[in-house]
Amino acid sequence: MSRFIYGIDFGTTNSGLSILDTTTNEIVKTFNESSLIFFPEPKLQHAPLAYYVGEEAVNRYVASHMKGRFMKSIKRVLPRQGFTGTIVYNKKYKAEDLVCIILKHLKAKADEFVKETVTRVVMGRPVVFDEHPEKDQVAQERLLKAAQLAGFEEIAFQMEPIAAAFTYERTMTGEELVLVADLGGGTSDFTLMQLCPTKQKLANREADIVGQGGIYVGGDNFDSSIMWEKGTPHFGRGLTYKDFDTTVELPRSFFLNITSWEKMNFFNSIRLQNALDKFDYLTGRKPTFKNLIALVRNNLGYAVFQSIEQAKIGLSRADEVHFNFESNGIEINEPITIEEFSKQIIGEDVVRIQTYLLDFLDELKVKPETVDAIFMTGGTSLVKPIRTFTSDLFGATTIKSGDNFNSVANGLAYSWVLFFN
Ligand SMILES: Nc1ncnc2c1ncn2[C@@H]1O[C@H](COP(=O)(O)OP(=O)(O)OP(=O)(O)O)[C@@H](O)[C@H]1O
Ligand SMILES: [Mg+2]
Repeated sequence: MSRFIYGIDFGTTNSGLSILDTTTNEIVKTFNESSLIFFPEPKLQHAPLAYYVGEEAVNRYVASHMKGRFMKSIKRVLPRQGFTGTIVYNKKYKAEDLVCIILKHLKAKADEFVKETVTRVVMGRPVVFDEHPEKDQVAQERLLKAAQLAGFEEIAFQMEPIAAAFTYERTMTGEELVLVADLGGGTSDFTLMQLCPTKQKLANREADIVGQGGIYVGGDNFDSSIMWEKGTPHFGRGLTYKDFDTTVELPRSFFLNITSWEKMNFFNSIRLQNALDKFDYLTGRKPTFKNLIALVRNNLGYAVFQSIEQAKIGLSRADEVHFNFESNGIEINEPITIEEFSKQIIGEDVVRIQTYLLDFLDELKVKPETVDAIFMTGGTSLVKPIRTFTSDLFGATTIKSGDNFNSVANGLAYSWVLFFN
């Protein structure tokens, strides 16, 4: 059996794989990849489908002028029982098949690095895939299936924030009550743990977990909110038409459908096409509606969301940014200040996360001032209003952060002793 073990953090936006050498208990390498898949249009009808993963997927997708099937946020379909699969050029892909593509890609890179076929893995999972236990179960089963399909034989699961806690624990000197906040693209997960570096080799750490919980709100929701507030008015939201004597606004649902990548991605295009034609006519062929038609016809969803994410990331550093997008006749140049971002745009989402965290501590009967450190990880932990409320709540000095994008994968690999010893 190989002396190596992998820790895989399959994330909504980014996935990571850490290689751990069990003889030294050290991480020897960590790989990162965006959780994206691109299937180019097949040249021959019956030829096996080609696909690309991560950055390569983006490059190929852009080079083919957005022709083909491009998939993002695949983790989000894991708990959807109704999602039995998607047809990609006549081949059906179930949720686990899509996840397997990403896991296989990471595994191949790592196997090549260690020059062995590694079959033991600690897979991460969020504290909540979904609030409904049944859906949560489905999600984990699909993730297990995906790992098996990718060639793993011994598969263990660990909560993502617990993994992050183990990474932080290695940097500590004494005993601490630590709140780990893993704020990612899809979920915000919290774990309160009693950490102590001397306990690292213990096989069972259950007793040290004071509590854990999570909420299905993350950075992707912020992108959706930016799209809703700053994007949809450029795509016809607010336009009206006459229905006999009444003035009716275009249906809200229509625009909710373009507020997230995956909704756009799995959109029924024939139904949408008919609706687009109808409403274009009814609203009097307005320029903003032309933008919506251009967005859908030219498959510009990914590019728009790239610009939105850029603007959001910019607001982690600057107090004002511009959401710029120009393509196929669409011209958007919207300033966004940190003020309106924090309040109007993502205010509700931030309050949901904050309220969740306060209730979480309350239920555990833990006062924020008794928490020794808060270890923040995940890309969304860099968002300013998130940092503001956490430092207001716990005090700036208790906030610690490590490597926002590798803490989970590293911790998953470190936690191998809990499962494979
Ligand atoms: N500098 C930044 N400022 C604000 N947000 C950021 C920054 N960098 C990345 N993000 C956001 O962080 C999110 C991705 O974080 P991360 O990679 O931790 O998520 P993930 O692990 O893929 O998701 P999850 O853990 O929820 O499955 C995205 O929404 C991304 O836009
Ligand atoms: Mg994550």
